[in-house]
Amino acid sequence: MTETAVPLLDLTRQIAALESELSAATARVIKSARFILGPEVADFEKAVAQYLGAHHAVGVASGTDALGVALRALDVGPGDVVLTSPFTFFATASAARGVGARLIFADIDPQTFNLDPAAVREVLEGRSPVCERLSIRPDQIKAIIPVHLYGQPVDVEAFEAISQDFSIPLVEDAAQAMGATFGKRHIGNSDHLVCFSFFPSKNLGAFGDGGLITTNNEDHAARLRLLRAHGSPRKYHHDVLGTNSRLDGLQAAILGVKLPHLDTWVQARRAHAAAYQAPFASAPGITPPLVANNCFHCYHQYTVRVADGRRDALGAHLTAHRIGSAIYYPIPLHLQAALADHGFVGGDYPISEGAAAEVLSLPIFPELTPAERDHVIGAIQTFDR
Ligand SMILES: Cc1ncc(COP(=O)(O)O)c(C=O)c1O
Repeated sequence: MTETAVPLLDLTRQIAALESELSAATARVIKSARFILGPEVADFEKAVAQYLGAHHAVGVASGTDALGVALRALDVGPGDVVLTSPFTFFATASAARGVGARLIFADIDPQTFNLDPAAVREVLEGRSPVCERLSIRPDQIKAIIPVHLYGQPVDVEAFEAISQDFSIPLVEDAAQAMGATFGKRHIGNSDHLVCFSFFPSKNLGAFGDGGLITTNNEDHAARLRLLRAHGSPRKYHHDVLGTNSRLDGLQAAILGVKLPHLDTWVQARRAHAAAYQAPFASAPGITPPLVANNCFHCYHQYTVRVADGRRDALGAHLTAHRIGSAIYYPIPLHLQAALADHGFVGGDYPISEGAAAEVLSLPIFPELTPAERDHVIGAIQTFDR
């Protein structure tokens, strides 16, 4: 008997389940011909702000743009430095480069894969040997971007304390964290700027690119709305230099259909993670994800560590059993060719480099069936035996 194939992600199941609602929503937008911003975007912004407990939500064209527009709103630009995690998707860095800023990193926590607040303080207190070698002074750092990697929140309180202590604004990269909470607050309910992506594979995904910035600060929100539309408060009046980064009506209508299902989908992801926990923890050399204090993990990814140089062997073993897996991310940002001009070298952020060599993400999408889940567990249990 051939084994069940288990994809890493299958979006078609979710789309099929909502097909008639999605079709009605897209037909409504097509009939209205309101394709850019408009009432669909305003309605979705209101609904998602309410879901997150945020005062303001501003739709933009992508998660990358959300970060870029947020940095522009803080007037980060050439000559400035942005501090972020070396272990994230490249967009976190490219947004900073896009506004002309230079990057510096601090290393991650090896268990959560998130930026380590103690390492960030080391940079800001001028105790980082990498900063010293690259002649980066703490006073050049104009924004900190913590990333809620895989859907696990960073220690939000620790970062808010850092932001206060050093008077440096935070821009949270929550591209992977829609539906996650820290303490009693949703990620996205904050006075600073929180950036989301609606890339189709995200926990709340559109049918194309889309993004969102949330904030509880009214001045920030007004500036974001201006910046996403060419700095124009009224047609053909441009007060500041902005850009064209607007959420489409079609994407907003689709997201509006999906949003009421988000919590159910997150619960399904968490149920899969709970089922994986014990068998994965007892598999030799495999470390399942650790959930940190106060964190409600939304499991955008379920990412294990595989010790002793056996990560690729596990990937091959899963492929042999027709199970999808992926490495998020194989090369830390400081070693990416696109940042070669920054002068980083191997060994600058050893914990991130170790993670890049050991992580593997496994199927966790909400519609995964119990049989598929059992097949993944069975394959993990037969690895290395
Ligand atoms: C951590 C992180 N930051 C930023 C982004 C950029 O989002 P987008 O693809 O919508 O531009 C993504 C997703 O792709 C991401 O995973």
